[in-house]
Amino acid sequence: MTTALLMTLDLLAAVLAAATWLGAGVAAASRRPRTALALLAAAVLASLARAGVVGGLAGAGWWFVQEKVTVALPLLLVTGVAATALAAPPLVRAARSQADAGAAGSPAVVVALLGAGYAAAGGLAVTLLMGYPATLSTALVTVAVVAVAMLVTWRIVAGPGRSPRIVIAITLVTGLAGTGLAFFPSPAMDDGLDHTLSHSGMGHLAMAAGSPAKPQGRPVTSLRGPATPAAGGVVRRYTLSAETAAITLSSGRKVDAWTFNGQVPGPPITANVGDLVEVRLRNANIRSGVTLHWHGYDVPAGEDGVPGLTQEAVLPGQEFVYRFLADRQGTFWYHTHEVSDLGVRMGLYGTLVVGPPSAGVDLTLPVHTFAGRTVFGDHDQPLDQRVAPGTPVRLRLINTDNTPHRFTLTGTPYRLVAVDGTDLNGPGELDRMGLRLPAGGRYDLTFVMPAARDVVLNTDDRTPSVRLTRQAAATSTTASATAGTAANATASATEDAKEDTTGWPDLDLTTYGTPATTPITAADTFDRRFTLVLDRGLSLAGGRPMYAYTVNGHAFPSIPTEVVSTGDLVRLTVVNRSRDIHPWHLHGHRVLVLSRDGRAPTGSPLWLDTFDLQPGEVWEVAFRATNPGLWMNHCHNLVHADQGMALHLAYEGVTTPFHGAHGG
Ligand code: C2O
Ligand code: CU
Repeated sequence: MTTALLMTLDLLAAVLAAATWLGAGVAAASRRPRTALALLAAAVLASLARAGVVGGLAGAGWWFVQEKVTVALPLLLVTGVAATALAAPPLVRAARSQADAGAAGSPAVVVALLGAGYAAAGGLAVTLLMGYPATLSTALVTVAVVAVAMLVTWRIVAGPGRSPRIVIAITLVTGLAGTGLAFFPSPAMDDGLDHTLSHSGMGHLAMAAGSPAKPQGRPVTSLRGPATPAAGGVVRRYTLSAETAAITLSSGRKVDAWTFNGQVPGPPITANVGDLVEVRLRNANIRSGVTLHWHGYDVPAGEDGVPGLTQEAVLPGQEFVYRFLADRQGTFWYHTHEVSDLGVRMGLYGTLVVGPPSAGVDLTLPVHTFAGRTVFGDHDQPLDQRVAPGTPVRLRLINTDNTPHRFTLTGTPYRLVAVDGTDLNGPGELDRMGLRLPAGGRYDLTFVMPAARDVVLNTDDRTPSVRLTRQAAATSTTASATAGTAANATASATEDAKEDTTGWPDLDLTTYGTPATTPITAADTFDRRFTLVLDRGLSLAGGRPMYAYTVNGHAFPSIPTEVVSTGDLVRLTVVNRSRDIHPWHLHGHRVLVLSRDGRAPTGSPLWLDTFDLQPGEVWEVAFRATNPGLWMNHCHNLVHADQGMALHLAYEGVTTPFHGAHGG
């Protein structure tokens, strides 16, 4: 059974347990002992079922069950046992003889049964509202709330008079202690070192030993790119002006957008290895401000474009010049990082491709949802390209949206040769296979244009997005062959239209390609280890109270900063215990995948900058800290990032002159 399924079953069992305990209490109060007994039996079963499911879930990791094992189940056990002991005998007697019917509705019976219901509901609330990790304070406050609910119930059922002293005592003690503990400061830094002594029994994070030492602090603004290209390289100069504009999509449809130079996507930025990329960003009239972040390109920190951390947002009338060396080939993209959820959605993004370009046809295809439509570049209709059979084709897919897209290619087998700008090792031929591209991620596909069929790239199984049509040959010697293929073309076009790709299996990247040695392995000794548990919960995100997207129970900016030193080997464990997909993205570094759900990749080494965590998944990734700076580490569903799911990775000794509290 998958972890995601167990998480769902756990919720169902929790709801069922709460409903049946409460139902039993209500039936007892209305003096229906038989109904109450039946519901009591169902409640006991549902409670046992929840315990069983939690046992199964524990196998996936402590993160998935911590609050259930420490709070929800003990509370349910104590109240459930008490309710069964107090309520079952009188209910049985009442069911047997009319003379004892009154006993069914006695305050003790009703309050005990309802109390177990409150406890079951309280445990469910802890899972849904607080998540991981439940603290001692959460536990105590939950007990207090359940006890208060029982006291109020007692008042209603028994009328004015003395309430049970034991419940009053529990309410006072747990309520006061829980509220008091809530004011304990939470750690602001996590240095990733093992501080065993400061681990509390309730699963608190390791407390950092205070702020990192800042001897001769190096401001992040001093970590800039070079002024000249490498030997043999040239300077690639671009000017990007951020401005609102009404743009026209290929269908003629007009949409209001936020653009670079009046176009969406912004101007494609290309360079070859060795070149210096110099981009002058001007803000004409984007009132909230703009920056440029080079997604997946590990530029010096001062060029990373995170407002409030590496620079101030560029406001209307202002400008900022970015410079970095093109030191690595591949497919990347750029986007604003100021109110990026809105800014990217409105159009402030473009492509960054470092070549040399491939021979043949080399298409860069950023996919975006724009005004409710799937758009490739500025095409909201299929993009048609004529290609001569035998031509090598490279498609560079870039997902600039917040959610994954599924791509299928009909008409030819192909290879997935690069992921997130890094070539895969020994990528085999793929046929009738879906590719799920995470938000922010890139896939490079290659194939040779076939002679027999046209090739169609479909997005999410509905939209034919790119059609590569065979180009008619010009010479008479091939005319007959051309005629023949033209006849086929009609036939295959019909076939293409009918091809249903929904049932095609998705490629599992962790088993694709061939293994190779890597500079990092799971067996290495890591200098720092961090665990990020992704969830939802009530929290303050950017000062606003909300049902936030949380990391380790906190929302930005109060998620502890991860602290590393230059040269450290760092291991990140990322756990998704929520019901959403989270595309995790670390700035400034590629990470090597060590394992997903405990299994190491068996194919090509996987270096990613954005990896998708499905609900219930646990990923372990690693990197060498060789790019000093202050970096964002966040979910690339930018709605989630905006609502709390973002933190910083800081190199010891690097400082920022800015307020530092911007999540982007
Ligand atoms: Cu493409 Cu911080 O993100
Ligand atoms: Cu997310």
